[in-house]
Amino acid sequence: MKKKVTAATLLAAKKNKQTQVWLTAYDAGAARIAEEAGVDVLLVGDSLGMVNLGYDTTIPVTTDDMILHTAAVVRGTTYAWVVCDLPFGTYQQSPEQALQTSAHILQTTGCDAVKLEGGKAMAETVQFLNERGIAVVGHVGMTPQSIKKFGNFKQRGTTDTEYQSIYEDALSIADAGAVAIVLECIPDDLAAKITADIGIPSVGIGAGKACDAQVLVWHDVLGLSEQAPPFAKAYANLRQDAVSAISTWAQEVRGKA
Ligand code: KIV
Repeated sequence: MKKKVTAATLLAAKKNKQTQVWLTAYDAGAARIAEEAGVDVLLVGDSLGMVNLGYDTTIPVTTDDMILHTAAVVRGTTYAWVVCDLPFGTYQQSPEQALQTSAHILQTTGCDAVKLEGGKAMAETVQFLNERGIAVVGHVGMTPQSIKKFGNFKQRGTTDTEYQSIYEDALSIADAGAVAIVLECIPDDLAAKITADIGIPSVGIGAGKACDAQVLVWHDVLGLSEQAPPFAKAYANLRQDAVSAISTWAQEVRGKA
């Protein structure tokens, strides 16, 4: 059986230039499949709200939603490091609020780490959690919980000011003691520069090949999404396979076969 992945494993992988594979998962069955495929880290992303719960954004996702799905993923896991997204509004108010939410999630699900969105403004919170023994993953660049501020899910860092600001965001989160940092939908050269300048793994999603790890959403990798982001390559067409399988079955049922 594969050895349990820990925060130390991820930091050692950065040092040894070993690329890590992250994938989102939202239930125990998916976790078992991902482990069979050798995935290192399972991220129970709040993308759950959009791909499974039918919301247009991640904003309505609650702590209880995350707990239900993260606990299921943990039950389906034998070795992967399991990260749970802190939902919108459950950590931004203060480091104390973030600690309370994180402790509740860690105690009720058995997951390994929490992830939060934001740069410089969240560095104090990351440090607060880190100093209290909580493994934190950061997330900068395109941060879906800020959709109401930005109005779209497009690439960030395309102006000089935003490019510099995202660079500083990433460094501040790394300096604050995060175990890893997700770089979402930013220019490849910016991700490469951040990756070279931090001592923790960068986890790219639409951020180029230079990142230390890559993450994609379960539905996008498997071709289950109705609309996948342009950077996400589908490695199967399970949506079409599912429609065709169910249609064949329905035909056989109606034909009394
Ligand atoms: O919510 C999520 O699934 C994420 C990944 C896309 C990084 O944050």
